[in-house]
Amino acid sequence: MQIFHHINSIRSALEAARIDNKTVAFVPTMGNLHAAHLALVKQAQSLCDVVVVSIFVNRLQFGLNEDWDKYPRTLEEDSHKLRGIGCDFLFCPDEHEIYPNGMDEQTRVIVPSMANVLCGASRPGHFEGVTTVVTKLFNIVQPDTAIFGIKDYQQLAIIRRMAEDLCIPVKIIAGDIIREADGLAMSSRNGFISAQERPHANQLNRSLQWVLQKVVEGERDFLRLEHEAKEQINVAGFKPDYFTICNSKTLEPAADDDLNITILGAMYTQRARLIDNMSIELDCIK
Ligand code: PAJ
Repeated sequence: MQIFHHINSIRSALEAARIDNKTVAFVPTMGNLHAAHLALVKQAQSLCDVVVVSIFVNRLQFGLNEDWDKYPRTLEEDSHKLRGIGCDFLFCPDEHEIYPNGMDEQTRVIVPSMANVLCGASRPGHFEGVTTVVTKLFNIVQPDTAIFGIKDYQQLAIIRRMAEDLCIPVKIIAGDIIREADGLAMSSRNGFISAQERPHANQLNRSLQWVLQKVVEGERDFLRLEHEAKEQINVAGFKPDYFTICNSKTLEPAADDDLNITILGAMYTQRARLIDNMSIELDCIK
């Protein structure tokens, strides 16, 4: 695996691959790689000839009171894991390489629809930071295909919309949510869950499953279900952020007759904010 810190050097290497008619798949990450990231890399390998992973803890997408400074940085272990599964290129720029004019002066990419609800409501500016850095990374790597995890459902939907609206010639592919044995979605932030909290930290997942089952059984009082799910999270000792039954495409609150439904939730542990979601196509289960 070749490691690049500079835009020019990864561009030259990718140019050489393209001259050989190789297709390029891209997996952007913030590092501290776990099995879910590696599953995305394997998926990328099954789709294209060359796989590029980026590791960049993008300060632009963190709020001032968030965990940018505490975010785990484990580049050595990460590169070891990537080498172990045969990743081709690792791009790990520093902040000056990505924001040479400083973050305040950086041209921004804004996706107005979907960016201010759910995670965007709790984390103002977060998705603007994500879409700005992902656009820059797309322009650097110019991949044929880019893979994003469904765990960050809203991020995936916003990036799809951004690529469509800006005519970015990249195919966006979704990667399944990878979970621990008890259902907790894998996350770099799970390391912040305390030993006392850990046995109950799958409550978000359990409440999503509970609500999904109720919806499948025909319950349509979505507000009541959302309220009960938040109550379950409270009782388990966590603080719910949001828990919403949405239209899978628009991420607006679902209507009674919507057939494609995604339930999204976020909750706070003492030191982390965790997110998860589940989707269902109701016309497929009749
Ligand atoms: P990060 O949180 O490192 O996630 C990188 C990719 O891994 C994202 O596409 C995310 O959805 C996916 N992922 C993480 N945990 C997952 C899980 N349990 N199952 C499936 N996929 C999972 O998301 C980001 O970084 C950043 O916002 C980024 C897109 C890199 C922009 O900075």
